[in-house]
Amino acid sequence: MADIQVVRATESDLPVILRTERLDGYDTVVGRWDEERHRVALADEKHRYFIAKDADEIIGFAIVRDWSSPDRVSLVKRIAMLKPGQGYGRRFLQSVLDRIFIETDAHRVWLGVFPENMRARRAYMAAGFIPEGIARGSAYFGGIYRDELVMAILRTEWEAGKT
Ligand SMILES: CC(C)(COP(=O)(O)OP(=O)(O)OC[C@H]1O[C@@H](n2cnc3c(N)ncnc32)[C@H](O)[C@@H]1OP(=O)(O)O)[C@@H](O)C(=O)NCCC(=O)NCCS
Repeated sequence: MADIQVVRATESDLPVILRTERLDGYDTVVGRWDEERHRVALADEKHRYFIAKDADEIIGFAIVRDWSSPDRVSLVKRIAMLKPGQGYGRRFLQSVLDRIFIETDAHRVWLGVFPENMRARRAYMAAGFIPEGIARGSAYFGGIYRDELVMAILRTEWEAGKT
């Protein structure tokens, strides 16, 4: 499988990001923002947007929140692929983790996933995230509070995976 490229997103990538969030079936698994909300987050220091490309085609995006935060904890706020289940997601996530651990002094990267989203969980496990437990009612989503499985990877674990 050829390497994917991971680059910082720009405003010109927003239409694809908006379209990806709105793919059929994604409404129950991933959050979505309107264009203005993305525009603000893209421009602030707290969020860092990445897109994955295969050749010249955009195949997915990820948003990291708390980039380079003083407490050295960053969150993978959102990740979505245009064509899921083809092995791209785990590789994208691994590259995003590399970017976080190399470009910042983060010691922990975490995310929340709906427990029934097994496809995402498997991709996260493959990228080195470890399930830690259920955060009850932590995601206000579609008008209700849903449980999330917290998964995380520490810098030492990321380093160990590189040897
Ligand atoms: C989550 C997501 C980014 C993962 O990327 P991906 O490219 O699909 O992930 P990969 O193909 O690398 O890995 C998927 C894994 O799930 C498995 N899988 C695929 N479809 C599955 C399904 N319907 N049920 C359970 N497992 C499934 C694959 O076999 C693979 O695991 P394995 O290699 O251990 O067998 C992508 O699926 C996606 O965009 N999903 C919709 C949005 C979403 O759920 N975002 C995350 C919100 S927390």
